[in-house]
Amino acid sequence: MEKFCIIGYPVSHSASPKIYNEYFKRINYDGFYGMEEIAPENFENRIDHIFEHYDGFNVTIPHKERVIPHLKMIEEGARIVGAINCVVSKNRKGCNTDWMGFVRSFPKTDWNGIIVLGAGGTARAVIYGLRKIGVSRITLLNRTYTKALSLKKWADSFGMEITAKPLDTLKQVLKYGKILINTTSVGMRGEKFDLSMKDLENLNLIYDVIYFKTPLQEMGKAMGIKVVDGKEMLYNQAVENLKIWDVPLVESLFREIFNDVMGKMRS
Ligand code: ATR
Repeated sequence: MEKFCIIGYPVSHSASPKIYNEYFKRINYDGFYGMEEIAPENFENRIDHIFEHYDGFNVTIPHKERVIPHLKMIEEGARIVGAINCVVSKNRKGCNTDWMGFVRSFPKTDWNGIIVLGAGGTARAVIYGLRKIGVSRITLLNRTYTKALSLKKWADSFGMEITAKPLDTLKQVLKYGKILINTTSVGMRGEKFDLSMKDLENLNLIYDVIYFKTPLQEMGKAMGIKVVDGKEMLYNQAVENLKIWDVPLVESLFREIFNDVMGKMRS
């Protein structure tokens, strides 16, 4: 049997075991996907056990960086983004399927005028993904301006030119932007950006990494703007995990199971 799991702290909220186990069952694949909650203070003691007992695993908060010294190979994007979320145990290879999932889910459109909100780990995966599809210039806004400036410096190293601005300039910046990508947690608990419909008038696309409905997504939809939510990035990173682990991929079935499980969660 092929064994996989997710390691993190906490992990009990993760939908991954339900999704993968149901999928394995439906394609008659001899596999199991479990959950391993590892408190930060136990990480060094437990990580070898994970490599020994599982063929592959996903890594979530707060271990995405700590796993790096335990790897022998690191996929280029994961190295640049500085975070690992998918590991193959036999060769100790670490990858970042967040950026891959972003690339798979980002609509193929005119990519001029991209505004990215946020400067955390998700922003790094998104910005690297944008560079990989050929975007070379974006505007980045963050509440903590100094973090936006550090990302600007970071992105220079792989040829992405960032215009960094504080988040409170969003209304002005939106006058020239066409695509708004939110990588912050704003909206997860119903929080709103200080925006009205008028401010979004110029946009062709809103890509919001939050899985569930947010005021930004709702406003965009009400205006007829194309809205892509975080379920797409999550789904597509999961597809990339299956590919990396060499699990047979039946996309239509995997999509159906993903939608079914996610639909039963908070929506
Ligand atoms: P992740 O790995 O999901 O990106 P993170 O590294 O903690 O998480 O980054 C969270 C991002 O959301 C940051 O850009 C953060 O802004 P700061 O750098 O100023 O902290 C942003 N964020 C979180 N809560 C926010 C809020 N209420 N308003 C604006 N930005 C917020």
